[in-house]
Amino acid sequence: MKALVLSGGKGTRLRPLTFTTAKQLIPIANKPILGYVLDHISQAGIKDAGVIIAPETGKDVKGYVKDGSAWNIKVNYIVQEPLGLAHAVKTARSFLGEDDFIMYLGDNLIGKGINTLLERFWNEKLDNLILLKEVENPTRFGIVVLDSQGNVAKLVEKPKTPPSNLALVGVYIFSNKIHQAIKRIKTSWRGELEITDAIQEMINQGFKVKAEKLDTWWLDTGKKDDILVANAKLLDEYIKRETKGEIHESKVEGRVTVRENARIVNSTVRGPCIIGENCLIKNSFIGPYTSVGNEAHVIDSSVEYSVILENALIRGVERLEESLIGRNAKILKNQKHKTLKLNIGDFSEVEI
Ligand code: TTP
Repeated sequence: MKALVLSGGKGTRLRPLTFTTAKQLIPIANKPILGYVLDHISQAGIKDAGVIIAPETGKDVKGYVKDGSAWNIKVNYIVQEPLGLAHAVKTARSFLGEDDFIMYLGDNLIGKGINTLLERFWNEKLDNLILLKEVENPTRFGIVVLDSQGNVAKLVEKPKTPPSNLALVGVYIFSNKIHQAIKRIKTSWRGELEITDAIQEMINQGFKVKAEKLDTWWLDTGKKDDILVANAKLLDEYIKRETKGEIHESKVEGRVTVRENARIVNSTVRGPCIIGENCLIKNSFIGPYTSVGNEAHVIDSSVEYSVILENALIRGVERLEESLIGRNAKILKNQKHKTLKLNIGDFSEVEI
């Protein structure tokens, strides 16, 4: 069993952050999304992973994953122009050989590991096992229709009129039969080789395709609000009360992790939240569900339900909520004037 981790793509929905970094490297609770994905692969005992990277962001992904030894996985990098999930499998053909493999989208987070899924795939000698989750907005996802016996009847990619609310979660297990199916499909109207079409083709050819409903949470971190929800979820699940930094004349309440050399001065921090290494929180309030990246400074401000990335500076901001602030970004209150003075990157969004 090999793993194919999809860490390419364009990440257009997360611009401007994805102009300078890969979507899969955006930290959730101060750890890149891709780190959680590799944790699951490693916990399943898989030792051999192909990591799909895009020409633009591949260098950053390599910089984080390196040779995979931090996860006890041997990593092969495969460069792909983002032309669809099935195209990624096609591009990885020589790495995959005739082996079974788990394909894991590098921007997806699920609330449990993949061990039980793999066991079912092997026990029932399947050609494909897909994971499903009920969603409220099925037009955004690949959607699956089950027949009365619970078998996969049909798949549709991002349907305008959804035939069901069961979305395909970004974790799939395949036998080598997928390669024959991919050979037979054509590029979709989106200009992509769709994995939904390839799975449909496997069903049409009579291969053993089964689906399982995921019994924990699933987060597809495509947009800003998804990142905030994922952040809240992971802070809720993983954050412990732990202080490695310094706390002066401050109240730190509940499950708050304060990393090495962070300083909290004359402030209130209410968990669950994480304050990264070398941060400075001064004369401020940091509310629940906030992750503050390494080296970031929050001064004379109040921040809640937000993700602040590395080395950002927030000063004099009365209430910052539901915000995603990029690396090295600055938000400074202009003390003298009421005018807004902005220097905003392409595709940024400011709500005033
Ligand atoms: P998507 O979120 O469907 O696509 P995207 O990353 O291009 O984002 P956007 O829609 O905002 O432009 O991709 C799901 C995951 O698969 C993501 O981790 C990127 C990866 N991917 C590839 O590696 N190769 C591809 O050809 C595509 C389409 C996605």
